Amino acid sequence: MREIIKKIKNRKLVIGVIGLGYVGLPLSILFAKKKFKIIGFDIDKKKIKSLCNQRSYIERISKSDIKILSKSSSFTSNFGLISKCDVIIITVPTPLTKNQLPDLHYVKSCLKQIFPFIKKNQTIILESTSYPGTTRELIGNKLKSKFHIGKELFVGFSSERIDPGLNEDKIHLVPKVVSGYSDKCLKIVSEIYRSIFNSVVKSESLEVAEFSKLLENVYRSVNIGFINEMKMIADKMQLDIFEIIKVSSTKPFGFRTFHPGPGIGGHCIPIDPMYLYWKSKQLNYNAEFIKLSKETNFKVLNFVVKKINKLQKKIKIPSKKIKILILGMSYKKNLDDIRESSSIKLIKKLLNLNFRYVDYSDPHISKTNINSINYKKKSINLTIKNLKKYHITLLMTDHDKFNYKKIYQYSNTIIDCRGKFKVGDKVIRA
Ligand SMILES: NC(=O)c1ccc[n+]([C@@H]2O[C@H](COP(=O)([O-])OP(=O)(O)OC[C@H]3O[C@@H](n4cnc5c(N)ncnc54)[C@H](O)[C@@H]3O)[C@@H](O)[C@H]2O)c1
Repeated sequence: MREIIKKIKNRKLVIGVIGLGYVGLPLSILFAKKKFKIIGFDIDKKKIKSLCNQRSYIERISKSDIKILSKSSSFTSNFGLISKCDVIIITVPTPLTKNQLPDLHYVKSCLKQIFPFIKKNQTIILESTSYPGTTRELIGNKLKSKFHIGKELFVGFSSERIDPGLNEDKIHLVPKVVSGYSDKCLKIVSEIYRSIFNSVVKSESLEVAEFSKLLENVYRSVNIGFINEMKMIADKMQLDIFEIIKVSSTKPFGFRTFHPGPGIGGHCIPIDPMYLYWKSKQLNYNAEFIKLSKETNFKVLNFVVKKINKLQKKIKIPSKKIKILILGMSYKKNLDDIRESSSIKLIKKLLNLNFRYVDYSDPHISKTNINSINYKKKSINLTIKNLKKYHITLLMTDHDKFNYKKIYQYSNTIIDCRGKFKVGDKVIRA
């Protein structure tokens, strides 16, 4: 163990990162900036090719950071190179099945690929989000017949706390939760992350760390669900929730501001809570808050559709003729990520309801292709002429790059889900 810790301090470790996506790529850059050698693994050959050509495929990751990474790294789909790594960090997706159950097939197939190449003195860390017990069941217990874990091989879990669109280049400032299969594993995992993060938070066990990540995401899902419900109640009273929040948020204690919206998106908040929901079901506990918040955050999109219908009736234009411009296709502001995006779900709903003219504008998403509904569009430029063309401008995602003054001035009617405009003759809250 002393030997490994010495290697960490002298930056002599080779770090293997498996899954070079929104989590794995910034993490690899962080290690590279601290002079570690990286081997980046991905089954997506396009990503490997881009990195080999020093090209970024994530908007907020700059070319200069990819250059820094390239200096000390190689990128591959050849899992035989796992044997050259001292540390193996897994950051592959953990989605849900169609039935909203944990889908661990990416993690399992990744482990199947790497297990034949695992050797003594390596450290394996799971960063993918999953239910409490995953690291012990899928990694620790599977390898303990071959290795003495905590002596010959080290296993840990560390949760990822990236805030997409906001802190990709500052993740080292966010306290990093670490945990280990044994005390020695915890010590090694802590030392690895201490070398790149400003502070590490040692968790008592793998399961506590895994649960803590889900707690953080359930907390967001429940609070967003709650504030979305408050929005729908306020609307019944013809009050603007954003004005109410402005007042409540002046309370200096016991109140944390959450903002309502047209639903939740991304790879975390709509998905991760269901991992805990499933786990509690296994233990005969019905996690009602988790279920209710999921349903409320889903239902809020129908509230937006109702607002469109109401406005449509008022201006007396049939679905087939009304022109709608959606502002923001990504699920979150200032981001190029459309996973679980409410705008996509809304487009699907509108097309099913026979709306024909549904265009979008998003400075971060130049093209959108939704095969299931044959929706192939390019982002519309927000020129004066274009803004005037649409009967409804619908603000779904409030990117900083939008020119809100211009949008207000030249749109016919705005349905605003983000509280960017003051409710009035032209603006409807949704
Ligand atoms: N994106 C976030 O903001 C965020 C934040 C916190 C935690 N997480 C968690 O981190 C994990 C990864 O999320 P992400 O957003 O980076 O996903 P992603 O889809 O952006 O990236 C995952 C990468 O893994 C690759 N991959 C899949 N299977 C593989 C395999 N068998 N071998 C090698 N590579 C493989 C994919 O090709 C992809 O490039 C998930 O568990 C997620 O819940 C994500």
